Amino acid sequence: MKIGVFDSGIGGVTVLTALRKRFPGVEFVYLGDTANVPYGTKSPSQIKSLAANAVASFAPRQLDALVVACNTASSLALDEIMATLPKVPVFGVVEAGVRATLDAHRAFTAAKTVLILATRATARSGIYSRLLTPSLGATTQVVEQACPLLVPIIEEGLLDHPLLHLAIHEYVLRHSEDRAPGIALLACTHYPWIKKAFERALPGWQIVDSANAVAALLEEALPQLKQAGNGPSKTEWLFTDPDVVPKFVFEA
Ligand code: DGL
Repeated sequence: MKIGVFDSGIGGVTVLTALRKRFPGVEFVYLGDTANVPYGTKSPSQIKSLAANAVASFAPRQLDALVVACNTASSLALDEIMATLPKVPVFGVVEAGVRATLDAHRAFTAAKTVLILATRATARSGIYSRLLTPSLGATTQVVEQACPLLVPIIEEGLLDHPLLHLAIHEYVLRHSEDRAPGIALLACTHYPWIKKAFERALPGWQIVDSANAVAALLEEALPQLKQAGNGPSKTEWLFTDPDVVPKFVFEA
């Protein structure tokens, strides 16, 4: 079986890692639109057209499914991606992020805040507030925080650089000062690369990401993935600008 994994850049690799672990015998094709990253600072119409254009390169590869491992494209361009690949089942990451957050909240019911850390485009779309608020109840508030500087810093490979820590501090300080520790969802697939930096900036908070929830959703929808054997798993790498990809991506 062959699964495509798509992101604007190297963020989707954090989801790919969880998928490879859960489905060792499956073949993966990873596509990062590194010529156009970041998507999250662009307009909805630019994001739709860039994402549709990029995923067209999966067309000859006869995928059994495509995981849109990018919250920004999942929030704003899922219909356009499905229209580009009409024969392929497409799975976005937002549903998985919602599920991971609700699971975390069931284990931490005292959390009064769910902080959504995302790109500007995802935060502006309001999709997480819309989907989470009805299930969380009136005593838990969903707060969306855009973190537009983080994706370029991660794409540069600066995963433990003072610049990164400064930027995170800027985005989360008022939340950590004004609120009791709650749940923070890494609603951008780039952010698990810097999970430790978020843990440092948000002491006592539970930091959640969606990678394992994506794998669980896929397994429910396509149980035959578990029958694909025990590997070794193969990955074909496609980048629209291969020269800018940091080496650690291939060691993940
Ligand atoms: N990794 C993507 C996400 O999950 C976004 C990165 C970008 O801004 O391109 O939102």
